[in-house]
Amino acid sequence: MKLEGRVALVTGVSPNIGGGIVEELWAEGAHIAAVDADAANANDCANYISRNGGQSLAIVCDVTDETQVSQAVDQTIKHFGQIDILVNNAAFFNQKGILEMSYAEWQSQTGVILDGAFLFTKYTAASMIDAGRRGSIINIISTAGHQGQPGNVAYSTAKMGLMNFTNSVAMELASYGIRVNSLTPTATDPGESIERGKRWGRDVSANAELGRIFAEFANHIPLQKLPRPSDYGKAAVFLASDDAEMITGTDLRVDAGAVSKYWAWDPAK
Ligand SMILES: NC(=O)c1ccc[n+]([C@@H]2O[C@H](COP(=O)([O-])OP(=O)(O)OC[C@H]3O[C@@H](n4cnc5c(N)ncnc54)[C@H](O)[C@@H]3O)[C@@H](O)[C@H]2O)c1
Repeated sequence: MKLEGRVALVTGVSPNIGGGIVEELWAEGAHIAAVDADAANANDCANYISRNGGQSLAIVCDVTDETQVSQAVDQTIKHFGQIDILVNNAAFFNQKGILEMSYAEWQSQTGVILDGAFLFTKYTAASMIDAGRRGSIINIISTAGHQGQPGNVAYSTAKMGLMNFTNSVAMELASYGIRVNSLTPTATDPGESIERGKRWGRDVSANAELGRIFAEFANHIPLQKLPRPSDYGKAAVFLASDDAEMITGTDLRVDAGAVSKYWAWDPAK
């Protein structure tokens, strides 16, 4: 197993992408600290791993609260002895453009994406350096962070910012052997999250509506189908593992070709 005994702290562990990343890291032997502001997500995710023979810890934490973040890092180290992998995945969606979004909404959405990654990276990297451990930090972007998506101004801007945060911190932490990369998902097939929600004991029927919206997206993406959370999880395993020991400051796009697509080409035609 590629991550045997390593400790991964993942933020934003809903049954969708965070849950998919957690399950792939765990399948490769990692112990999991499941961090979420929503206690149900943190608990359901951690309980699923523990019920199935893994080691996990649920932590309820708002990624924008510095005291809670520093406590979450301390709690993970107290429980597992170390942190080897950090995945900054927590975010929320609020599709509004410049004309309709309030300043408070802008601050809140960019805050979760950027301040959350800043705080968790700051405290986790310090713990890795103190312990003399090499580590891997992975920031979750979005294809919306690579392109100008109308009506999603705070999200797109913060995700692009998170990409250059990745570059900057990768350079700063290189001499400590801490690698920092980002991973870009895109519109995601909701089928797997529905199935995961059921395994975690959730009512996820509301996600079916998302399936209908996203089915149309699949026609316009070069590979003609949308990625699943487990596709991102496998890429996260790669970035976290020794297979990627020479990779830092890189964005790994798991987007079925979305960002590379020539703007005027429609694969559906
Ligand atoms: N779903 C997609 O199609 C898609 C596409 C591209 C990128 N992404 C990115 O993937 C990541 C996960 O997305 P998802 O679709 O699984 O979203 P989701 O809403 O299912 O999960 C996000 C999680 O973050 C948590 N969270 C939000 N604010 C928080 C805070 N302040 N502190 C702690 N936890 C908080 C939520 O409780 C939730 O569990 C996000 O970074 C998102 O931007 C998603």
